[in-house]
Amino acid sequence: MIITGKYPNLRMRRSRKEEWSRRLVRENTLSGSDFVLPIFLTNGKNKKQKIKSMEGVYRYSIDNLSVIIDRAIKNKIPMLALFPNTNKKLKDNNGSEALNENNLVSKAIIKIKKRYRNEIGIMCDVALDPYTSHGHDGLIKKKEILNDKTIQILIKQSLLQAEMGCDVIAPSDMMDGRIGEIRKALDKNGYEKIQILSYAIKYSSSFYGPFRDAVGSKKALKGDKKTYQMDYSNIDEALREVALDIKEGADMVMVKPGLPYIDVIKEVKNKFKIPVLAYQVSGEYSIIRNAIKKKILSNDAIYETLLSFKRAGANAIISYYADYLDKILK
Ligand code: PBG
Repeated sequence: MIITGKYPNLRMRRSRKEEWSRRLVRENTLSGSDFVLPIFLTNGKNKKQKIKSMEGVYRYSIDNLSVIIDRAIKNKIPMLALFPNTNKKLKDNNGSEALNENNLVSKAIIKIKKRYRNEIGIMCDVALDPYTSHGHDGLIKKKEILNDKTIQILIKQSLLQAEMGCDVIAPSDMMDGRIGEIRKALDKNGYEKIQILSYAIKYSSSFYGPFRDAVGSKKALKGDKKTYQMDYSNIDEALREVALDIKEGADMVMVKPGLPYIDVIKEVKNKFKIPVLAYQVSGEYSIIRNAIKKKILSNDAIYETLLSFKRAGANAIISYYADYLDKILK
């Protein structure tokens, strides 16, 4: 600890006295470049569907994406994250729709890349939960989520996304060893320049509820995800997950959820000096949104929370608030 003086010579309030002075000594700020915008996709034409548990967030049909993407580009957001709401009829035990080259994500990538080229990056989740009838991220056999067999499908899902033009492959499934296997397969197929953002630390959290509603996996989900997502009591284990994923070839790592795990973000950044992304998940978004709506909190709660991720050391924040930056950053 560096002590620079002593009261009454030293008065910490001097630098807080005026707005210009507070700005002068400010240590962290937020800009559009700090955000990743998640977009939910749905079938059909000219659709902008409300999501009951996520007020202010919508599912868009592919022909209707330009309004939200134009806004993202105007706000200097560097990357989008695509999440499909798959028609129930297309879901099965093995999540086969994940490998359909005409699925929602494939169509969206092609459309977006054609129109925006490299003005904005695209990241895609690699996991089977939006596609399985049981709502789990992997293949299931007698209630067990199969690790190695799931990886074989995740590899194919990654290759398909790469082929369609996805820039950043983001495995969110938490199977052991998948980063290394996906990296190997990408390289072998000429996709050595495609980045991998590993959801290295993904806790088994109650804060994902509204997201599962948004992608339509909530009612489908049988049981919980505790045999593959992490126990939220642990941080040593989280650091081992990151170390493994870096060795396997991850370019960036994610900590998820965000706010309840702010200590984990800081520890990962300090220990590994690798780009770290924080995911302010659906439940976090909806809590703040509802508190503001009910006038329990003021709007400033949004900026304050988002900034905490930067202070902890995150390079960027995946947040549903990224669609409201005009208001938040002004
Ligand atoms: C899919 C996935 C989930 C989220 C992102 N990718 C849900 C889950 O694992 O159940 C959650 C995001 C959010 O809550 O905003 N594997």
